[in-house]
Amino acid sequence: MKDWTTPKSKELWDNRTKLIAEWIPAGATVLEFGCWTRHLETLIAPSCTYIPSDIYGRGPDTFICNLNAEHLPTFPTADIVVFGGVLEYVKDIPRLIAHLNCKTVLTSYVFQRQWPWGNRRAEFIGVFEKCGYTKRDEVAYDNNIPGGVIMRFER
Ligand SMILES: C[S@@+](CC[C@H](N)C(=O)[O-])C[C@H]1O[C@@H](n2cnc3c(N)ncnc32)[C@H](O)[C@@H]1O
Repeated sequence: MKDWTTPKSKELWDNRTKLIAEWIPAGATVLEFGCWTRHLETLIAPSCTYIPSDIYGRGPDTFICNLNAEHLPTFPTADIVVFGGVLEYVKDIPRLIAHLNCKTVLTSYVFQRQWPWGNRRAEFIGVFEKCGYTKRDEVAYDNNIPGGVIMRFER
């Protein structure tokens, strides 16, 4: 199992997660892909329902799902789907976004050349638009990561 942890990246990602949490209203059902330490669960309102998902078990209630699997399973029903630091590892983002059945998607992406969609920013947003989503918000999450943003899409 890959170890995602270094103190520096943990701090950086926790900051990103904190910003994502600010977009999650009380009472929402939230499905988080690539949930890792489930930090998001600790930041959202207690009235939210949190569904953790990852390629590895991150607690007994994890919805284990490889986003690169040949066939994607039916996802649990949720108001909001979160992808924090995980779409960079997904081979077919258009297929994944078309598979969603939620109203809101909160996602990060690092628009740097080293990542598959790093120099295709407009196309990346277009993938969501094709599925009926509109980008409502965008925030850069750390000055040390040029191109590292979080986006809020709604439909
Ligand atoms: C860089 S960490 C980000 C963790 C957390 N979301 C955050 O922002 O701090 C990437 C997470 O995505 C998961 N992951 C990587 N590849 C995946 C895949 N193909 N399907 C599902 N999850 C995956 C990893 O196990 C890990 O928990």
